[in-house]
Formats: sequence, structure tokens, C-alpha cells
Amino acid sequence: MTSQRIMDPVLLRAREDFPILTRTVYGKPLIYLDNAATTHKPQCVIDALSGYYATTNSNVHRGVHKLSQEATAAYEQARERVQRHLNAASEREIVFTRGTTEAVNLVAHSYGALAVRAGDEIILSGMEHHSNIVPWQMLCERSGAVVKVIPVTDAGELDMDAYASLLNERTKLVAVVAVSNALGTMNPVQEIVRMAHAVGARVLVDAAQAMPHMQVDVRAWDCDFLALSGHKVYAPTGIGVLYGKEELLNAMPPFMGGGDMIRSVSFEKSTYAQAPQKFEAGTPSIADAIALGVALEYVQGIGYERIAAHENALLQVATERMSSIDGVRIIGTAQHKSCVVSFVVDGVHPHDMGTYLDREGIAVRAGHHCVQPLMKRFGVAATTRMSCALTTTFDEVERCADAVALAVAFFRS
Ligand code: ALA
Repeated sequence: MTSQRIMDPVLLRAREDFPILTRTVYGKPLIYLDNAATTHKPQCVIDALSGYYATTNSNVHRGVHKLSQEATAAYEQARERVQRHLNAASEREIVFTRGTTEAVNLVAHSYGALAVRAGDEIILSGMEHHSNIVPWQMLCERSGAVVKVIPVTDAGELDMDAYASLLNERTKLVAVVAVSNALGTMNPVQEIVRMAHAVGARVLVDAAQAMPHMQVDVRAWDCDFLALSGHKVYAPTGIGVLYGKEELLNAMPPFMGGGDMIRSVSFEKSTYAQAPQKFEAGTPSIADAIALGVALEYVQGIGYERIAAHENALLQVATERMSSIDGVRIIGTAQHKSCVVSFVVDGVHPHDMGTYLDREGIAVRAGHHCVQPLMKRFGVAATTRMSCALTTTFDEVERCADAVALAVAFFRS
């Protein structure tokens, strides 16, 4: 039985912007529910990429010739688009990186070298992605600092009382995810930042999974750093952003040395440019940055209110349908969630479930989702995860739930 929900016509039309959504898999229409791993690209993003290479391709910040000037202007315009999208105070606070992972590593190395010493404490949450755990552990190995972890409740929310008790004058940095990739939990970022600042700690927010679902506003959150990946928000792979407060970025040492990040170089001594150039050594991913700017404008054109309203309705349908299947246990039932449903079925390995769904044309992720400590917290090695996008239809999540029900019956028979 279907929910008979009517999809927002603007979002239904938006599906036509995504050429890949018309393809079939094993002769069946593709149902793509792996958006937390990566989102598909609308035609405007694909056109921005191929248009750049067809008409403008040139290196930035280096050439006096026309193409280089055009490429530089387009690249810097992309930076301004990101700045406006995030509501950063200045485009000098926007550093292009390869993605969230590189942005976190940049801060761990550079801010770590500036400010983290033996005996200092770095607070992470129990639902962090490996990319927001391992760089901090590596920093601790270098510096003698220690990691403390905010526990996760049975519902998949952060234990804010425990967080309060972890904060103290030794806390140098809190690194926390805004939206969990594996559970969908939306964390109270503003509150987390306020509490950290009260003890003089800095905060890095991993906004990779927040970007497609909610308006991220670095000034409203007042975070000190924020990391994001383009490919999670309808832009290409290989491009991401580190936002950092300008005075912090300028105080931090460079992460990588090379061309474009210097003021002057001699064999005796080199001096460095100010942020953001100081952190963009080498030729950047120019076309991908431009396409990221286009993707963010695309999302703004649709509007986060519309996206959130649809995804909340989808989540409700998906949760109802999945909870009604005998044997299915949903991992992550936070009050505020993005449209992610992670689940396990006793006696059915998530990889078997994922493979079964794949043969039905349904793409989900099965595994530990790069959050092994969180999996351990819930006593599972892996889950199967459906994760939605602005283009996901009610019919798609219902078909997925129907296929899960058939898979459970199949594997248990
Ligand atoms: N972090 C990505 C995911 O959750 C790869 O699937």
C-alpha cells in the first residue's frame, strides 16, 4: 500500500535536472538512496564543469593573459558564492580544499601546531566520522594532547550533560559533526559552540552531511572552523571548503608549502601570503570550485525550507514503513534527524541486504559507514543505510521498504 503522499511539484520537476536519475540498473529504474555517500549532479553543475574546460581552461592567479584572468575571476567568484552561502564575514575566510577530510587535517596540523600542547584536551563526539577522529588522534600523538568523547544516547543523540562535564580549562578544541552520516542525527551546534566558547575552546564543525539538508550559517553558529565536501551537496568530488575565522587563519602556520601560498621565496627564508592563499598551495581544483558555486546557487534556488519540508515528510514515511517490518531495528531515532534510515535485521548481514536491494535497482550503503566507534556503541558491526536527497520520491522510499520486507522473508526462509 502506498502512502498516497503528493510530492512538492518543484522538487518533482527538479528530478529532471539530474540526468542519471533516468537510467536503469539491471533493467529496473534506478532508486538511488545512497546520497549520504555522494549526491548526483544536476545538469547545471555538469555544464559548469564541461563549459569551463571547453571555453576558459587556464591556471589561476598566475597568467596575464585573458583566459587566466577569466579563470581567476570565475574561481574567486566561486569563493564569494561559498562565502554568501555560509554567511561568512569575508571571502578571505573561505579556503578551498579537496573535501572535508583535507579541511579537518588542515586544522589538525595547522591550528594544532599553533595552539595544542601536551596535556590539552580535544573533545570529539561518539558519532564522528573517521575523518573527524583520526586527524585528532594523530595530533595527540604529535603533541601529547588527549581526546575525550561525548557519549551518544540510545536514541543516537549527544549526551549534553556529559558534554558539559567534559569541558574545562584544558579543552582546546571541540570537533563535532552537525549531522551524523550514519544516524541522521542533527546536533545542537549552536549550543555546543556556546558551551565550548565559555571555557575558551575553539570549535570545528563537520558540516559535510548538513549542507544538502539545512542552511548552514557560520555566524549564527559562531563556530571557529567548518568543513564541508562539495560532492555531498550536488557538486563534484575533489572540492571542499574549510571555513575559518579570519584572525585564526592568519595566525595559523601553513599546512602545505608550494606555489601560490607565498609572499616571497629565497633559499634563506620564505614568507607566506595571508589566508586563504596561504592554505591553497599548488594549482587548485578550479573547475570543481566553480561547479561548487553553481551547485550552491542551485540549492538556494530551490530553497532549504522546501527541501527540509519534503525530507521530513519522507523520513516520516520511511520510518513508519521500515518500523512495521518484522525483524527490522532502526539504529538512530533522534528527535531531529535528516532523512537517513540505518537499520539492522537479526540474522541478515547488511551486505546481503545491500546486495539484494541492488538487484532490485536500489542503491543503499551497507557497512560501518566510516563510524566504527559508533557502530560499536550500538553493538553492531554494520548497518544498511538509506539516505535521501531533495529528489527522492515517496514512491522510492516505499519501494525500498517493500524490497526490504521481501529480503527479510527471503533470508529468513
Ligand atoms: N561519509 C560517506 C558516507 O557516509 C562516505 O557514506
